[in-house]
Amino acid sequence: MIKIEKMASQHLGELITLGLDESQVKFVGTIDDILTMINAQIRPYVITVENQVVGFFLIDTVYEKNNDFVTSKSLGLRKFFIDNKHQGNGYAKQTLNLLPDYLAVTYPNHTDVYLTVNVKNNVAKNLYLKNGFQDTEELYLGGPSGPQHVMKLAYKVA
Ligand SMILES: CC(C)(COP(=O)(O)OP(=O)(O)OC[C@H]1O[C@@H](n2cnc3c(N)ncnc32)[C@H](O)[C@@H]1OP(=O)(O)O)[C@@H](O)C(=O)NCCC(=O)NCCS
Repeated sequence: MIKIEKMASQHLGELITLGLDESQVKFVGTIDDILTMINAQIRPYVITVENQVVGFFLIDTVYEKNNDFVTSKSLGLRKFFIDNKHQGNGYAKQTLNLLPDYLAVTYPNHTDVYLTVNVKNNVAKNLYLKNGFQDTEELYLGGPSGPQHVMKLAYKVA
């Protein structure tokens, strides 16, 4: 069964073995870089299947403070990825299906979650569109690998 769990120290050993295809690294960076982003406001989560770590994401609790395109008290979903050995098994889709309820319980004082996805990353954009996110039709131009679509999911009725 797939689960979203807060990242804990026991996950680290497995986490650092996760990989991406070379063509995918530009979309999220390396795991080493991602781990340096973690702090009290930018919180790490692992995606597990039968207790094995298969993926990862960050929830940025101060996303609206750093992104002008955000209009409400919103979270940011960042660095979402599935290890390349485990891609194509429906894990990303299943994670996104669990996400609204998970965020509603974990972050009841927020109502929305935003993300940005590179315009060249069609697999991820279609995945988000099919699993609850809407394209805001805005483009974010501050990413390291070119323009990104801004997408939003309302997980809680305000
Ligand atoms: C995008 C990503 C998270 C998808 O993870 P995944 O677990 O392989 O995705 P799933 O197996 O749940 O598949 C979801 C859909 O994408 C499609 N898909 C997955 N990989 C694909 C590929 N390489 N090419 C074409 N379609 C693909 C699946 O067919 C499925 O489509 P469906 O809903 O029509 O059945 C994964 O490829 C990844 O980690 N990419 C690199 C990091 C990244 O780009 N993250 C997004 C940052 S915004």
